[in-house]
Amino acid sequence: MCEQADPEDLLNWYDRHARKLPWRVAPAARAAGVRPDPYRVWLSEIMLQQTTVAAVRDYYEAFTSAWPRVQDLAAEEDARVMAAWAGLGYYARARNLLKCARQISQERQGRFPETEAELQGLPGIGPYTAAAIAAIAFDRPAVVVDGNVERVMARLHDIHSPLPGAKPELTEAAAALTPQQRPGDYAQAVMDLGATICTPRNPACGICPWRTPCRARQNGSAPELPKKTPRKPKPIRIGTAFIARRVDGALLLERRPDKGLLGGMLGWPGSDWAESAAPATAPPIRAEWKTLPGEARHTFTHFHLRLTVKTALVPMERPPVRGSFVAPEDFSSKDLPTVMRKALDLAIGG
Ligand code: ADE
Repeated sequence: MCEQADPEDLLNWYDRHARKLPWRVAPAARAAGVRPDPYRVWLSEIMLQQTTVAAVRDYYEAFTSAWPRVQDLAAEEDARVMAAWAGLGYYARARNLLKCARQISQERQGRFPETEAELQGLPGIGPYTAAAIAAIAFDRPAVVVDGNVERVMARLHDIHSPLPGAKPELTEAAAALTPQQRPGDYAQAVMDLGATICTPRNPACGICPWRTPCRARQNGSAPELPKKTPRKPKPIRIGTAFIARRVDGALLLERRPDKGLLGGMLGWPGSDWAESAAPATAPPIRAEWKTLPGEARHTFTHFHLRLTVKTALVPMERPPVRGSFVAPEDFSSKDLPTVMRKALDLAIGG
């Protein structure tokens, strides 16, 4: 006889082992009637897309200290929000975050909608995020499927078909288990199980609350699941970045257009990034440019980038052809996306 996984067993485990996360209402507090703040749930879910809990913590604290309510965020200048997001990556998320905050603030008196369908109508909120917010903030029995949930379901049912093709099958398995009681805690419990016990490598099956019904554990296949269709290797792109320093210490920076990679972020003027030779580009200001040894390397979702960095020292009165000078007191390298910070580190020998 085959035992079925019981959501109740996972919830009991979660009551004892839930991770303490700054955006989370602990299960005991939730049981006592404390409701999560939808703004904080939304903010944390947007930040956590493609990013780890460890990387998000400090950003979450900085955002909620600076902008405790969605209306505060909505009223902020774009440049300050983009600077606060710098280093977290996937900058379209930050642009959509602001759009969404402004829509909620201006059209909904600062209140988030509660249903998945309405949530999905907002900028930056896709099916996963809508389900996560509906479940965690509003305790609706939405089916939340992230990478953790896919892994847990693949193992529980010993599903060997590879991702991404297996997604519908894994979603169906997740839907069949989602309970009507405490769906918000349940969604977070599966995430915690995936992050702490049912980990990609070396799963701790011996202490798993679902060890008995888990088919992959019975068959010894847990460590190799979920299967994934091999990805194409990422191409390499190359480009040039120009770092001009004026004699008073001001740096020549340029805000990138809103659309596209690193959209809306500050950066060094430079060439486009191409797959063969670096495209020839006129420097952003007339100067004696020096090419630095080495290159700044950074990996994006779809390619590896290798940037040649050129530097120059320029006199006070010379006007740039591109970009504008930013005084040292108005500039922090923390405001730059990581690739631009790497280029600066190369220039200052950091
Ligand atoms: N990853 C994505 N959302 C999460 C959450 N709410 N708690 C923990 N990890 C997560």
